[in-house]
Amino acid sequence: MRAVDIIQKKRDGVELSAEEIKFFIGGYSKGDLPDYQMAALAMAIVFQGMTPKELAVMTLEMAKSGDQIDLSPIKGIKVDKHSTGGVGDKTSLVLAPLVAAAGVPVAKMSGRGLGHTGGTIDKLEAIAGYQVEIEEEQFFNQVNDIGVSLIGQTGNITPADKKLYSLRDVTATVESIPLIASSIMSKKIAAGADAIVLDVKTGSGAFMKTLDDSIALAQAMVDIGTEVGRQTVGIISDMDQPLGHLIGNSLEVEEAIMTLNNGGPADLRELSLILGSYMLVLGGAAKTDAEAREILERHLADGSALEKLKQLVEAQGGDASMIADPSLLPHASERIEVKAVAAGTVAAIQAEHVGVAAMLLGAGRETKESQIDLAVGLDLRKKVGDKVNVGDTLAILHVNDTKRVEEAKDRIIKAYELSQADVAAKPLVYAIVTKDGVQRFV
Ligand code: URA
Repeated sequence: MRAVDIIQKKRDGVELSAEEIKFFIGGYSKGDLPDYQMAALAMAIVFQGMTPKELAVMTLEMAKSGDQIDLSPIKGIKVDKHSTGGVGDKTSLVLAPLVAAAGVPVAKMSGRGLGHTGGTIDKLEAIAGYQVEIEEEQFFNQVNDIGVSLIGQTGNITPADKKLYSLRDVTATVESIPLIASSIMSKKIAAGADAIVLDVKTGSGAFMKTLDDSIALAQAMVDIGTEVGRQTVGIISDMDQPLGHLIGNSLEVEEAIMTLNNGGPADLRELSLILGSYMLVLGGAAKTDAEAREILERHLADGSALEKLKQLVEAQGGDASMIADPSLLPHASERIEVKAVAAGTVAAIQAEHVGVAAMLLGAGRETKESQIDLAVGLDLRKKVGDKVNVGDTLAILHVNDTKRVEEAKDRIIKAYELSQADVAAKPLVYAIVTKDGVQRFV
């Protein structure tokens, strides 16, 4: 078998056999095939796409390229949740304790942030002492004991994806539905969950800018999950503005605590209830969405979801007094207001600009090596649908180092799209994709 023949076949739109895909992905992962041939195949996939059969084979081959976590020592149906990446998205911090409180075990590995989106593991490190790296045995025992563990990625998960993703990043081949779908699903399959709830973001701040593309991405991932025997659901949710008000590591922990305390911003609470309901149904703790929602609302109202977060933090060596009293979390030394320079109604808030503003203040990484400041970030005071007058506060920056404040302010001003007409409320969820089809709400 020759790599060049396989590239040519894909270039010409002919379906590849399972053997050809295994030869290529396996060979590239082991270092037998050079970057330039992988880059050429990736570009051919960008133009020609992949059939569901090709996609399932490629995804499994990537999942098998490194360690595969066997979660069978953990009792019950393990349901994972994955977001395709948003700004202000702290749903994992809410969902892990909430769903665990409702009886579904959560054994979750999360990543760090890079660029304009944050990572759950960085956020958790705002809690003093919280250990994101624990031994596998402790991970399993903890989930069996208290129902939840949230850790950083361990071992050597999907090295083929790591290598391919770095190559895609520099060869303009990131934006491809089959390549994104196989990248995400290979990691989820290797992480071992029995069922997967995908939060596929759509809008200006997301990988997929249009609803049709977002649905197609969700469908590709649901097809892969179904093909490999993992129940998978895709929820298409809005990213035409950041989720919630607070962006930045410590600030996002604070907002997650407010939500677990039965408060918090309406959009974060609602999305957590929607995603959590699917996790409960897939995990066998509820028969219907309505039943699941009622169970979750009860756990928010009676304090058991917040109590579960305290247990999680304690079990992983963190200071649980910070959960009881969020004023103990790291805070920035200065607050700087960003004032509106025009009037109107907020029509959208470009999440990417907001994420970059937070990064400029030190909340995110510009490069893999950047050190982040856990205390800094921003608080969005106006959201879509709100009226704005000149001089109103759009956002409050939480700052330790003022060096790049002006740049951050410019980004916030740019992020706000103001309309002179009334702005209709946007749905939070646009569609739900399951193996049985697509349910659209718009
Ligand atoms: N997230 C991933 O993990 N992979 C992609 O290709 C895109 C987003």
